[in-house]
Amino acid sequence: MILQHIIEQLYEQPADKLDREDALHAVHQLKVALNNGEVRAAEHRAGAWNVNTWVKKGILLAFRLGTIKEYASDSVFQFFDKDTMALRQFNLSDAVRIVPGGSCVRDGAYVASGVVMMPPAYVNIGAYVDEHTMIDSHALVGSCAQIGKRVHLSASAQVGGVLEPVGSMPVIIEDDVFVGGNCGVYEGTIVQRRAVLGAGVIVTGSTAVYDLVREQVYKKSSSEPLIIPEGAVVVSGSRPIDQPFAKEHQLSIYSPMIIKYRDERTDAATALEHSLR
Ligand SMILES: CC(C)(COP(=O)(O)OP(=O)(O)OC[C@H]1O[C@@H](n2cnc3c(N)ncnc32)[C@H](O)[C@@H]1OP(=O)(O)O)[C@@H](O)C(=O)NCCC(=O)NCCS
Repeated sequence: MILQHIIEQLYEQPADKLDREDALHAVHQLKVALNNGEVRAAEHRAGAWNVNTWVKKGILLAFRLGTIKEYASDSVFQFFDKDTMALRQFNLSDAVRIVPGGSCVRDGAYVASGVVMMPPAYVNIGAYVDEHTMIDSHALVGSCAQIGKRVHLSASAQVGGVLEPVGSMPVIIEDDVFVGGNCGVYEGTIVQRRAVLGAGVIVTGSTAVYDLVREQVYKKSSSEPLIIPEGAVVVSGSRPIDQPFAKEHQLSIYSPMIIKYRDERTDAATALEHSLR
């Protein structure tokens, strides 16, 4: 039976009926396939991003099966986590640069060659980080997040994890996106190719993004997540609140907006430091 069917069957089993050895074996196989990038929590098929719910089920199964254990008990750097949630091990041949200082990649995450991780950074289970992406200090790649090629996740950028419900889209950051410092991208938002999130932009499933160039408003709908269009340059802004009390006090609400589409000036402002790579 293929791994997908094994995991789907195991996931439906009540705890007292679950064969622990079989389940641990399936979870191990899933993590190996995730580490190698052979399976992904979401993938681009037929022109759209699709969630692989069985992968998320397998990850949830790993959490369910685990019991807390003490790792590195002979070191001053102790840590405690589920025994099914070990850290990913790398070899020099993986060609990933993990600069020392407290970064972690959980087992079951794909990190492609040429990726640079500045400390501390965290890559959670189910994440996929493609070639030559920079994960700067204090950046988070949350569970199942899919990060494209040559993406720059600036210092303190937070890419939220999406595990449950299993059918929900993880955050997707496509190729050549620049995510500025202190940004937050959450709840299944898709940031399309070459888009730029200016420093401090936060988008969730409830955020409306105003496009000043195309005069449109982008929001999550029942069938689609929030999508930041290709090449959009998003900056933080505000809009007045149309409500008597808010008007009386001149209140406005945070509102990201697309100020322009990427041009040479943006390319210059977001150019990566090649010599540091
Ligand atoms: C978005 C960003 C890349 C600028 O893009 P750009 O294409 O060079 O933008 P421009 O300079 O052409 O500015 C276009 C307009 O947007 C405004 N603007 C640009 N960036 C802005 C921002 N972050 N917030 C608010 N307004 C912004 C400009 O004032 C300008 O307005 P104007 O036309 O009224 O003068 C830059 O602001 C930014 O956020 N850089 C990321 C910095 C960072 O996080 N570094 C990481 C270090 S680890």
